[in-house]
Order: sequence, then structure tokens, then C-alpha cells
Amino acid sequence: MLYFTLFLGIFITIWAVLTISSAWTQANVWIVPLGVVCVAIGALMEALRHDHAKRVIQNQKRPLVLPAGDRARIVQEGFLSMLLAACFIVLGLILLTLQGMAFFSNGLDQNPFVQVRPDHALPKLELSGSRAPSTHVYSKEFSFTEDWFTYNIPIWEQALMPYKGKPRLRYLEIGVFEGRSFFWMLENILTDPTSSAVAMDIFTGEFRNRYYANLKLSGCEHRVTTITGYSQTELRNQQLESFDIIYVDGSHKAGNVLEDAVLCLRLLKHGGVLIFDDAKWTGWKKVESPENNPRPAIDIFYAFYGKQFETIHNGYQVMLRKK
Ligand SMILES: C[S@@+](CC[C@H](N)C(=O)[O-])C[C@H]1O[C@@H](n2cnc3c(N)ncnc32)[C@H](O)[C@@H]1O
Repeated sequence: MLYFTLFLGIFITIWAVLTISSAWTQANVWIVPLGVVCVAIGALMEALRHDHAKRVIQNQKRPLVLPAGDRARIVQEGFLSMLLAACFIVLGLILLTLQGMAFFSNGLDQNPFVQVRPDHALPKLELSGSRAPSTHVYSKEFSFTEDWFTYNIPIWEQALMPYKGKPRLRYLEIGVFEGRSFFWMLENILTDPTSSAVAMDIFTGEFRNRYYANLKLSGCEHRVTTITGYSQTELRNQQLESFDIIYVDGSHKAGNVLEDAVLCLRLLKHGGVLIFDDAKWTGWKKVESPENNPRPAIDIFYAFYGKQFETIHNGYQVMLRKK
């Protein structure tokens, strides 16, 4: 059991070091197969040691030097160690193959346009929650024609709960439309009277009037700043590191999403949350080019700036917390 215990110890030490270091997030997918391989090596070495001992006994000129019971034990232990090693090796190989397949397909299946190196891809981390549209989630009779938001509520509640009711929160939403997500934030997270929100949209079309009617109904006009214009220009007029939560849901063209994301990185406070919508939107299949899809932008943004963030959620939406 000497080598077996030794390698088990090595594996547990590696595990412990990775758990308390920042390398854990990238390494955790490999840790179980790695553990199995460590244990297999230990068991194999143990089997070889017994095999060697057995051969020494057999080659002895005077085999009776060792009691028969001891010889039988050595042979039996050698066989058991060999069996253990074989099981762990097979298990290790299966796990490594499965893990490797999952690891290398991570991100690539979603994004036909940009192939991000696996170690620069968003980690697989999904908060659980049903994606069913919710009704009766507003205290007022707002007027909405589209619902692109309420099925995200279970995830938003979990991720944004630490902010609920906090004073002096600042929220920015890019792409407000009629305000379905915007007014949910005001009613559920920005509940302290000192908290405020910025609504940014090009506001072209019918929905502009509906947004303003909803704003009036919300009774929060004094806490809301409405900015009409393209986010790619308007974001440049905002104060750096001044927002606690930013929701990027404006233009869905990859170039615009990337520009929004890079500008928002500077506008977000440390500890603030950046949310992208439609990270798994399949719109690119319907339109002529993946340039019209947020996904490549989110992947590129994360590949370049991901180290400045902790991933909270990587599902249909992506939520990142600035370190
Ligand atoms: C999907 S809707 C937003 C939905 C809204 N967040 C909700 O959950 O109800 C996208 C919005 O982005 C706006 N938009 C599109 N391109 C934009 C841009 N470059 N800058 C600012 N807003 C933009 C559109 O006018 C539209 O209202």
C-alpha cells in the first residue's frame, strides 16, 4: 500500500493547492480524471513491487526462509494491486477521453465564426432556473407587446439578490425597448430610493411612446435618466467606474456588441455585474452572417478580458462580475 498511499497523497495535495488558488476554475474539469490516473499509477507501482518480491522469493536458493503464509500473502496482495491498477487505468482513460471531448467542444459548438482557445473560453457554469415566461411580476399595469425578458427572472433573482435594496446603486441598460427588463430592475433590485438607472436606446418607432408611458406609470421618473442615441457613441459620455450593473441588450451585431462590452468594462465599478443577452441566440442561422449575432463578440471579449472577470452564469445569457 506504500505507493498507492503516496500517489493518493500527491493527488490530494494537488487538489488542495488548486482549490485554494485561482487556477482552480480552469483546472477543475481535469481534476477527477487526474486523480484517477494518480491512484492508478500508485496501484500499478504497488503491483510491480509485489511482483518483484514474488520473483525474488521464487529465485531464492532456500525458499523456506520465508514462511509459506507470508509468500501467499505477497502473491495475493500483488494480484489485488494489479487488479486495482487495471480498474483505475481503464476508468482514468474513459474519464480523460470524455473530459477531453467535452473540453475541446466547449464554446466551439455555439460559435461558428470565432474559434477561441479552450483555456480562453467562458467556463461552463450555469445557474439553475426554469426558463418559462413569468406573469404578474410587476406591481403596475405596464404596457408591453414583446417578452424577451421574463424567462430570465429566476437567474437574475439569484445573481442580483446581493444588490437588492442596496442604497445608491447605479444601473445601466443598453437596449431598453418598452422597458420590460428595465422596470423589473427598478421594482425588484433598485428598490432603495437612492438608487438610479440609465435607459439607453435609439428609441425609434412606436415603442418609444410605450416606454415613456411605462416610465410615467412606474413613478420612478426622478430616478431615471433616459438617453436617446446609439450606445456606441453615448457610452463614451458616461463616467468611468460609475455603474454597479450593466445589461447589454442593444444592437445584436457582433461588432456593436463587442464595442459596447469594451466600453462597459470601463464604466463598471469593481465588483459590478455585466450581463449579455442572447449568448445562445441562433439568429445567425437565419440571417446571412454570424456578424449579426452577439455570440462571437461575447467570446472574443471574454478571450481578451475574461481574466478581469469572475463568471457568474454562462447560459442563454452571460453574467460576469468585474474583479
Ligand atoms: C431586444 S430589444 C431590448 C429588450 C429589452 N431589454 C427587454 O428586455 O425588454 C433591443 C433594443 O436595442 C435597441 N438598439 C438597437 N441598436 C442599438 C444601438 N446601437 N444603441 C442603442 N440601442 C440600440 C433597439 O432599439 C431595441 O429597443
